[in-house]
Amino acid sequence: MSDIERTEFKLPESAPARGPESSVEPHAQRGEHDVEKSLRPKSIHEFIGQPKVRRQLDLVLSGARQRSVTPDHILLSGPPGLGKTTMAMIVAQELGTSLRMTSGPALERAGDLAAMLSNIMEGDVLFIDEIHRIARPAEEMLYMAMEDFRIDVIVGKGPGATSIPLDIPPFTLVGATTRAGMLTGPLRDRFGFTAQMEFYDVEDLTQVVTRAAGILGVDIDSDAAVEIASRSRGTPRIANRLLRRVRDYADVHSDGRVTVRAAQGALEVFDVDELGLDRLDRAVLDALIRGHGGGPVGVSTLAIAVGEEPSTVEEVCEPYLVRAGLVSRTGRGRVATSAAWRHLGLEPPEGAIGS
Ligand SMILES: Nc1ncnc2c1ncn2[C@@H]1O[C@H](COP(=O)(O)OP(=O)(O)OP(=O)(O)O)[C@@H](O)[C@H]1O
Ligand SMILES: [Mg+2]
Repeated sequence: MSDIERTEFKLPESAPARGPESSVEPHAQRGEHDVEKSLRPKSIHEFIGQPKVRRQLDLVLSGARQRSVTPDHILLSGPPGLGKTTMAMIVAQELGTSLRMTSGPALERAGDLAAMLSNIMEGDVLFIDEIHRIARPAEEMLYMAMEDFRIDVIVGKGPGATSIPLDIPPFTLVGATTRAGMLTGPLRDRFGFTAQMEFYDVEDLTQVVTRAAGILGVDIDSDAAVEIASRSRGTPRIANRLLRRVRDYADVHSDGRVTVRAAQGALEVFDVDELGLDRLDRAVLDALIRGHGGGPVGVSTLAIAVGEEPSTVEEVCEPYLVRAGLVSRTGRGRVATSAAWRHLGLEPPEGAIGS
């Protein structure tokens, strides 16, 4: 088992949220960390889906193991809830080393990072979550640590300040980010391997649901697992959460067995439709179609129509609406596809995308 050392975690306050009431919020919700911990796959072979990332990572780790060196620094990039933290833990597990965890927002000063680095033992994995939010002075110190396994610690202030060089034993940095585009070039270039996590397909999510049901001791029908998986927006965190909501419903309304009817009933109560859209997503589609004839409309206009921040619409709703083939991004704004019209029970106009 890896030793897990945790520094203070700060919630990424820039991360837009749908609010605690939505079951399809991709970020972790309050109180969810404990149950997530029990559901995390512990080895690369237990990790479901992401075949490309798994194969690549397996090679990076096996190669380093064979040559008895520490593997290259690894960047895990992708939307929330796809398994970046899980994968970072697996890297340490596979290497048989300790994992030290911190996050970009917790590294406000270079000294915060220096403290972290001075505790590192040879071969350790240093995990920095939300690495795009690291403060500039800490980032500059990180460049040197990543490249030369050395940092300069500044002691004192003003003209009397001196810089003391400090050697760091070879370690592997694993960075996670939901916003790879916000990483500076020099930081990105220092990662030897970047894994791009993709949304999961329904088959993989069905496996995620079935596996979690096994761990939680929930009796689930296979078609109910498919039903939950297909409403989970390609995201294991959401799949696991919907499973828990459905279990509650099955406990209250029947003998606890999760059938497809229980799944449908529960997801109706929690406002998650067949495509995994919640009220906010449907409001956006409604504003786009009923309010603006299907578009094109700018994001800020849509945001005003649904009473949300533009960043919430752009970063939380839109990626999934685009991925589900309901909205298309064009140079002039967002356009509803014919699937979106049909999803609202309307006949798409002639010339609608995808008709
Ligand atoms: N491949 C997988 N197989 C099974 N469960 C998974 C998988 N990936 C993620 N999960 C589950 O989904 C939950 C969220 O995963 P994790 O915390 O690793 O996501 P993340 O990408 O780090 O999210 P964030 O960007 O919010 O930090 C965990 O409880 C984990 O059990
Ligand atoms: Mg994470």
